[in-house]
Amino acid sequence: MDIGIDKIGFYTPNVYVDMEKLAEARGVDPAKYTIGIGQEKMAVAPLHQDAVSMAANAALSILDEEDKQAIDFVLFGTESGVDHSKSGAVWVHQLTGIQKGARSIELKQACYGASAGIKMAMGHIALNPESKVLVLGTDIAKYGLHTGGEPTQGAGAVAILLSQNPRILSLDNDSAALTKDISDFWRPLYSDYAFVDGKFSNQAYLEFLSDVWGIYKEKTNRDLRDFEAMCFHVPYTKMGKKAIMVLTEDADEADTERLMSYYQDSVYYNKQVGNIYTGSLYLSLLSLLEQGKELEAGARIGLFSYGSGAVGEFFSGTLKEGYKSQVRTEAHEALLESRTELSISEYEEILELALPKDGTDIDIDHKEVKEGTIYLAAVKSHIREYVN
Ligand code: HMG
Repeated sequence: MDIGIDKIGFYTPNVYVDMEKLAEARGVDPAKYTIGIGQEKMAVAPLHQDAVSMAANAALSILDEEDKQAIDFVLFGTESGVDHSKSGAVWVHQLTGIQKGARSIELKQACYGASAGIKMAMGHIALNPESKVLVLGTDIAKYGLHTGGEPTQGAGAVAILLSQNPRILSLDNDSAALTKDISDFWRPLYSDYAFVDGKFSNQAYLEFLSDVWGIYKEKTNRDLRDFEAMCFHVPYTKMGKKAIMVLTEDADEADTERLMSYYQDSVYYNKQVGNIYTGSLYLSLLSLLEQGKELEAGARIGLFSYGSGAVGEFFSGTLKEGYKSQVRTEAHEALLESRTELSISEYEEILELALPKDGTDIDIDHKEVKEGTIYLAAVKSHIREYVN
């Protein structure tokens, strides 16, 4: 059965920080952030946008009434969950008007959660060919002010609709995965900010890539020549370049040149948003599909997912004829262009805002919310109130 991505969309909050200005404020050469790290703008989540509202906004941008009736599984990948018990998927299900006979759950393994959702969705559709499955990757990446990870923060969500006979990308059942217990990046339950061993995390990411690629090649007999392009988990865009360099270490010139030629297009959106954890790989895929030249039907795209802690997986898909007419390039460009730049002091204030931890009721300032955007309006009697 042909199973894969039928629709894909993303949402990011409407405010951002300019990376050159952040570098200046931190006394760092701006080229370190824009070239060394490879980021131009960093999305910042105001208090009224959380993992749930961002995911609901991403989902609403792609779903029509027929989809809402056909979806019977909502999989919410995040490491920015808002409740220890209730899944973010239940709120998204309600906020987007999906038919009531659906299952809704949350998945966690750092940045890998949405990829796990995709794998589960494929199995579900194989057993239930008429189903559509909504997979969400939604996160706020926060390391804190004046930290090494500060220039690699971000916020946003990707929504992916999977079905049989998809119109964008057919996914193969060709995964190579790897799990290892390591402490490269984690966020204990008591902390608003992630803990990270930056250099070790880079090294672990690249070792996982190299290992799963080796397993993948053996399992499938495929090699670089079989791939038109590759997309990677993108914690910051320079990482995508490092990943291609690892894969092409012993490659011939043609393979290296071809894979490198898609790099800029595949990180165009990530460069303007920052790390969105679970959604980052899929934001990179979207960037390639929308910002890159039209590729031939059947062209194979490699996908590498990495979630610290750690799980890595390499898998692939092939493009469908006419996929360019199924994506929403203009809407996504408009979303990015309509954002407002924050001054450094405004950014610092927003980044440190948090909901009360003692259960006090709060009405959340949402003056800046654009019409039609879902947001968190209040927390009353310990219950979150989202507005659609
Ligand atoms: P750092 O120590 O600030 O930076 O940490 P650096 O000194 O390593 O410099 C970064 C790059 O800028 C280097 O290039 C420098 O040469 C270059 P590279 O050697 O890497 O190619 N540079 C300059 N370039 C031009 N002009 C200059 C200049 N100065 C320096 N003047 C680090 C950087 C990314 C480690 C830090 O920001 C961090 O800890 N970030 C968070 C962790 C992270 O993103 N890790 C990525 C892999 S793990 C992962 O992807 C999982 C994750 O998404 C979480 C999850 O799974 O949930 C994070």
